Amino acid sequence: MIACSWIQFMIHDWIDHMEDTQQVEIRAPDEVAEGCPLKSFKFYKNKKVHTGSAKPEIGFLNSRTPWWDGSVIYGNNNDGMIKVRTFKEGKLKISGDGLLEHDEKGIPISGDIRNCWAGFTLLQALFVKEHNIVCDMLKEHYPDFDDEKLYRHARLVTSAVIAKIHTIDWTVELLKTDTLLAGMRINWYGFFGKKIKDLIGHKFGPVCSGLVGLQRPRDHGILYSLTEEFVSVYRMHSLLPDKVILVDIRSTTSENKCPLLQEEVPMWEMIGKQGERRLAKIGMEQMLVSMGHQSCGAVTLWNYPSWMRNLVAHDVDGEDRPDLVDMAALELYRDRERNVARYNEFRRNLLMIPISTWEDLTDDVEVIEALREIYGDDVEELDLQVGLHAEKKIKGFAIGETAFFIFLLIASRRLEADRFFTTNFNSRTYTEKGLEWVNKTETLKDVIDRHFPEMTEKWMRCSSAFSVWSSDPTSRNYIPLYLRPASACYVLMSILACFFLIIFSKNFLV
Ligand code: HEM
Repeated sequence: MIACSWIQFMIHDWIDHMEDTQQVEIRAPDEVAEGCPLKSFKFYKNKKVHTGSAKPEIGFLNSRTPWWDGSVIYGNNNDGMIKVRTFKEGKLKISGDGLLEHDEKGIPISGDIRNCWAGFTLLQALFVKEHNIVCDMLKEHYPDFDDEKLYRHARLVTSAVIAKIHTIDWTVELLKTDTLLAGMRINWYGFFGKKIKDLIGHKFGPVCSGLVGLQRPRDHGILYSLTEEFVSVYRMHSLLPDKVILVDIRSTTSENKCPLLQEEVPMWEMIGKQGERRLAKIGMEQMLVSMGHQSCGAVTLWNYPSWMRNLVAHDVDGEDRPDLVDMAALELYRDRERNVARYNEFRRNLLMIPISTWEDLTDDVEVIEALREIYGDDVEELDLQVGLHAEKKIKGFAIGETAFFIFLLIASRRLEADRFFTTNFNSRTYTEKGLEWVNKTETLKDVIDRHFPEMTEKWMRCSSAFSVWSSDPTSRNYIPLYLRPASACYVLMSILACFFLIIFSKNFLV
């Protein structure tokens, strides 16, 4: 469940489509209305704007900053940023029990407060703690830094820690193969690896030394931005369970570090203000260990959380909306509203082979029957979300290959097109000690260990905090990562790319 909350934590750092004032209503057709929790529901359209260019002519506004800047804890604008700061020693507000503070209405005080639940605000609180401890470290080494300087540097460091964890820990857990592990580490450290980069710095271009630390951002001619396609493939609400399983952390540990079950709480009780009250009673440690021991849902058809089909969504101030929404229906509507291509066209746009029959998409006969009932034999009509959920998964991957293509493209872009991960990823901007902090932090487990020194020792058997904590640790592999068969192919391609780059740049420089 930590992996699932983490990705929501990231989404709330990057994107939230601004809404228009015009409300619309969706009505379930009579033939299916019986099976829908809501026969109709109202919601706001997205705010459309003219882009000023011919293609695409129309775009949609984002109310969050798309940069990897930790806005999920720091806020997206000046008012938001002021609200979360203590203005003492650079620190952010946090309550005595380690959880977020709340305003008089019971809404958490944090960078992002919309559609939150207990697992999400818990991660916000953990990274506020991380920010504050970075402030302590900076103050110790740079006693002349005032509140503003401490805040700004700690923000840079904490945001980079978040970006690094996402790149080399979370993504690797979601797409569990040696190829991905090699690819993501190359994105951060380059083919020569951490030890050499630590020793000599970023000397040999993106393939050998990684994207992080490049001399200049590379945006391939388009200013840093996230795409609508990216938003669509991250619509992974089926990762969310129907209930949260709380475990008893006062129990003695068993052989596989698995605590006893204490209580099952329906997911809808963990959302919004109600969820915050519940979390305050549960406490940070029990919630974190419980989430660690619960697996999340699979991104597959017929696994959409039923409680999301009559959901109380939040407005921009984090307050409950009066009209319930059916999120499953709304997600299809949003993709159509934003002109995101349907599944087959989406694949064509990515130069992937489109499907010709339902059998190309899945082997599941029950799924094929249902698709035929809805779309007939017209595979071009297949909605992107339905296709993404129905698609056969690559072995070891939690997602299908269509989403994976977008993941790969944007995972690199988020780093290489941002000056704080390229031109300014240096000790002048981050401070020497700040950069050292980013460099020594490799995983979410490192962060948890910092703030809860005994927790993972007692309750975590596996290697990554994003796995189910009672699962087996990754077995020791004495073959170096880049020589393993699955990653060797990736590495070989990287070396070839490097070789051609060198030749190309020589030709270019003379
Ligand atoms: C309790 C947990 C969650 C709740 C209550 C929730 C609720 C919502 C709501 C109400 C929307 C806006 C719908 C609209 O008007 O278009 C939304 C959008 C979205 N959610 Fe969630 N969500 C949750 C968790 C997650 C998770 C785990 C993910 C995983 C990736 C996720 C990904 C997204 C994405 C990509 C969007 C589209 C954002 C945009 O259109 O700008 N959400 N969610």
